[in-house]
Amino acid sequence: MTLKSRFYDLVASKFYDKHLNSDAMNEVRMRAVNALGLWPGAQVLEVGCGTGLNQPFLAEAVGEEGTIIAVDASKEMLRRAEERAREGEYSERIAFIEGDVREIEWLTANARDDEGVDAVLFSLILTVVPEWESVFEKAFSLLAPGGSCVIMDTYWPNPNLFQRAMCLAYAADPTRPTFEPMQSFGAEFQIEFYPPDEKTFFLASARAPANMMEAELTQIASNQNQEPDGEEELADQAIGGT
Ligand SMILES: C[S@@+](CC[C@H](N)C(=O)[O-])C[C@H]1O[C@@H](n2cnc3c(N)ncnc32)[C@H](O)[C@@H]1O
Repeated sequence: MTLKSRFYDLVASKFYDKHLNSDAMNEVRMRAVNALGLWPGAQVLEVGCGTGLNQPFLAEAVGEEGTIIAVDASKEMLRRAEERAREGEYSERIAFIEGDVREIEWLTANARDDEGVDAVLFSLILTVVPEWESVFEKAFSLLAPGGSCVIMDTYWPNPNLFQRAMCLAYAADPTRPTFEPMQSFGAEFQIEFYPPDEKTFFLASARAPANMMEAELTQIASNQNQEPDGEEELADQAIGGT
């Protein structure tokens, strides 16, 4: 149990599905799952799965032969996810694990394939969890070579009052540039904002490099590109219209 998961147990779980299970949100969730490029039989790790709102899309994408490893530290959020999975008749495809995602490599050790998972999804979690860079790195390192990773989240470097209130309700920090580590470590990094005119959410995707040499080259290229102007441009794109 963590402080944030206790907050989700006692507070956020009470209104979570009312706000974050809208048609508009489900459109973003579906896009995030599509960006993972899953196939029947694939194994996907969902980091901080909450009440399981992405899981109908994940379950459909991996099919009956596939598996979803779903980790969250909040008992109440997981209870709702399990209930949803039973109702949707896909619970046999999901290994629910209660625990702190800062320990993700140990928590999932028995559930994942030896060669690594095919995909990792971070949906509205890296803005919430403490030590988010390390959580990202640990989970990303569990990918099989060439495996895909998607982050769906908000990036509001200067949140307005409404955005501040929203983030307070979900114990989230929207000023974190949570896509940046993936931009450094991942191959084929892409980012898009959604809806395109409002840029409320971003969807970032990348692949685990096929080998360490490729990872190091990506890191060097990314370091060379980290001129202040480039960063400002990305931040401008992210906040435009929000
Ligand atoms: C905003 S919700 C996102 C849930 C889900 N991914 C979604 O898209 O709806 C954040 C989730 O992170 C979980 N969480 C926060 N800190 C955590 C931690 N250290 N370990 C595991 N889960 C954590 C909370 O319990 C909550 O379910």
